[in-house]
Amino acid sequence: MKKWFLFPLCVIRRVSVLGLLVVFCVGSVWAQSDSSADGGQADDEWITMPKPTEEGVSHFSLAAMDIEKTVCGWGTVQSCKTIDGNPITLKGKKYVQGVGTHGPSKIVVKLNGSVTHFRALLGVDDEVQTQANSYPNCGRIGYKVYLRGQSGEEKVLKEGEVKCGEEPVVFDEPVDGWKYLILETTNGVDGENSSDHVDWANAYLVYKEQNSTPPCIVGEDELSSQLDCATRVFSQPNVRFIHKVRSNNPDAVVSVTGLPEGLTWNEKRQFVEGKIAEEGEYTYVAHCTLDGETNDTTIHLTVSKSLALPLPFMGWISWNSVEGNISEEIVRKAVALFKDKGLVECGWNTIMLDDLWHASTRADDGSPRPDATRFPNGMKAVADYVHSQGMNFGLYTDAAERTCANAFGSYGSETIDAQTYAEWGIDIVKCDYCNAPADQATAAQRYKTLADAFKAAGYGTRLYICEWGVREPWKWGAESGGVCWRISYDVRDCWSGTAPGIGVVQSIRDMKNLANYQGVNRLNDSDMLCLGLHAHGKSSNDLCGSGQGMTQDEYRTQFALWCMWSSPMALSFDPRTDYITDDDYTIMKNTELIALNQDPSCQQADLLSEADDLVMFAKDCENGDIALSVTNMSSETKTAQFDFSTIPHLDAEDTYTVRDLWSHTNLEPVSNGQLSCSVRSHATRVFRLSKVSSKNGKCSIPAAKIKAAKKRK
Ligand code: GLA
Repeated sequence: MKKWFLFPLCVIRRVSVLGLLVVFCVGSVWAQSDSSADGGQADDEWITMPKPTEEGVSHFSLAAMDIEKTVCGWGTVQSCKTIDGNPITLKGKKYVQGVGTHGPSKIVVKLNGSVTHFRALLGVDDEVQTQANSYPNCGRIGYKVYLRGQSGEEKVLKEGEVKCGEEPVVFDEPVDGWKYLILETTNGVDGENSSDHVDWANAYLVYKEQNSTPPCIVGEDELSSQLDCATRVFSQPNVRFIHKVRSNNPDAVVSVTGLPEGLTWNEKRQFVEGKIAEEGEYTYVAHCTLDGETNDTTIHLTVSKSLALPLPFMGWISWNSVEGNISEEIVRKAVALFKDKGLVECGWNTIMLDDLWHASTRADDGSPRPDATRFPNGMKAVADYVHSQGMNFGLYTDAAERTCANAFGSYGSETIDAQTYAEWGIDIVKCDYCNAPADQATAAQRYKTLADAFKAAGYGTRLYICEWGVREPWKWGAESGGVCWRISYDVRDCWSGTAPGIGVVQSIRDMKNLANYQGVNRLNDSDMLCLGLHAHGKSSNDLCGSGQGMTQDEYRTQFALWCMWSSPMALSFDPRTDYITDDDYTIMKNTELIALNQDPSCQQADLLSEADDLVMFAKDCENGDIALSVTNMSSETKTAQFDFSTIPHLDAEDTYTVRDLWSHTNLEPVSNGQLSCSVRSHATRVFRLSKVSSKNGKCSIPAAKIKAAKKRK
């Protein structure tokens, strides 16, 4: 016996802090009391959506999402019904879940980093065959299902045609790592949209929760081309400023006007560059022209000697290895180790406590307080101690009432938290985003409230935004008062994470297209370094395949890339242990790579190429040098070739000195525009190139320097 229920609303309920999202169907809908776990036919007629068999996975029904944003060729898009309001039926089979729309149609799903697969059946509903007004073609549609990445790159998953009465098209597509999934239907070859009753039957996303951000449907305008650059930028006086002003559409023409004195527009490189002598607030205008239409955007530039965080912080953070055991004793051990091993001298000078430093409740007056057993002298004493050792001290909170590990967060307590942090002397606060609303506007507002409270408290506490890149904080983080923001979910101690885990492979994936947004005092953060963990981490060891940790070449790669990207760097090993090797310390103390990370222009390297399993980046340095890196993603040693004529950062006809930043030696200068090197599996070579002479005969480096460089070799 079938029983039918009418559910008034699509309900998405969060059942636990890190638990599963439960999605019920949906709209005013026919659903059935019996749902078979295998997704097979529940009875003679009806097919249900399969339930997940794997732990930690949810099936996120398309029908339960914000389908009103669908582009629909006729009528109103329907949840779990056809466009005419009947049960979704394809080749005589009825489907409990799905979306009924009408061609031409478009559904844009923003994947938010946690979706591994898209599954659905696509067809023209049987209802058109029985319609009195059925057309000779009885509904025939074209379809294209494709993915789109951060910088506009696209990958077609399937395209073709289907008409009524035909078997539905089956989709079971991996979508991990892509930003948007786009489900598009057209009129088909018949060119008419009559009877194009499109069903996305039993359509769902396989969702592995990472903190709290599920996928959502967005309007198609989110895909339209725009200026792809930061609009709030910073510089220090008399330091070379670089601001990449680019579009993600190769057909768009970008230009800049109204530049203040000292800055020029570099057409070839598509960036503003130069030095401004005077502190102050400046503006200029970026223009982006496409198909005869120009959009103007005002850029706001602050030039100041006292920016909150001009360069990426370098230091240590407790989470990966210590988690809830963090204590004053461990902080003291970390400080001692960083001093004894000479790390502080190399720039590693910030100690940060992550989640769970907290007491179980706030004090009676609502102020935050640390766990009394682990911090017996209170937090001010710890901060004072860290400061007395010449280091900075940071804490952790969350922009909701509870943190990711369920301690108290700062939402609603921003003022008292900011005042208390100021009394304690907290230099930087990492603010997480667990248990907070998914949308971008709320995130931007919550972070701004906290940053404003920090400002009002007067100590100068910096805001480090941690919403995992899901809401594109590189576009609003600076406006919300943040100085750096995580761009991915948590890194794992492995080369390639198991979706949605982030190994080095996924860090590259998530960071490679964000170079336009990196700059002084506005930093894209690729998360903690696993260097030195050797699989002894806690959370950093899951979603990681075998959980064996990384090889030395892989740790070196992670370090080299963070330096090429000018990402903040936080080591995350346990300072009480002896598993950190001499080679680990040698990597941490590679001052030539650190100089790249701390380069005063603070540019993130641009992606040059990913062909042939070799990922190549180029980074602009303040003094005009260019750093080149190549990472070998394959399992065999490879030869890499840099061809300067294809690298906009270099002039193929000029001569460059070449410094190897791992061996600390100078290679032969390059004057033929070609640099080749061999690179081991999963290793990264990094070279710093200085222009010796230009094709116009002018020497850009004094002769004395060239001599010194030759001698060093
Ligand atoms: C989130 C963050 C991590 C860490 C944990 C603590 O997952 O992304 O970096 O702070 O929370 O609970």
